[in-house]
Amino acid sequence: MAIRTIITYPHPVLRQKAETITVFDQELKTLIEDMADTMYKAPGVGLAANQIGIARQLVVIDRSTVENERKFLTLINPEITGGEGSIVDEEGCLSVIECYAKVKRFRKIHVIAQDADGNPLEFDAEDRFARIIQHEVDHLLGTLFIDRLSSLKRALYKKKLKKLLQGEE
Ligand code: NI
Repeated sequence: MAIRTIITYPHPVLRQKAETITVFDQELKTLIEDMADTMYKAPGVGLAANQIGIARQLVVIDRSTVENERKFLTLINPEITGGEGSIVDEEGCLSVIECYAKVKRFRKIHVIAQDADGNPLEFDAEDRFARIIQHEVDHLLGTLFIDRLSSLKRALYKKKLKKLLQGEE
């Protein structure tokens, strides 16, 4: 069990396109466990590998249904191959401090991916689950949810962040 450091905006690794994973070994399984540890410690509901400085196509998503349950889904090389409907709802991100904003996403998506052993996965996701997957897959493409806000809102956030970071000095 190891908690990794979560990288925050504007670190450039968050802008890297994550590489496809082709080797499903013990090292990958350790990384997955560390990502789950880091997500639950934060706490967050999803985490992409870029967020701990590793630009590889791996995300973990919380699937617990009761408090303190450790149940998560691992998606390797995930791809959203279809989307329908749209919902606007509030999002935040462990890598974007002090920012919550409404983002429009597909309500329902179709996903293909691989599991920790490299087996193919294919499923539909809806509502909040679909939102989290879309947010995490964006991370793997180097996209942050603030990129989906209006330029005015993004500018306001950058100004706020600058102040916050100056306050830390
Ligand atoms: Ni995020």
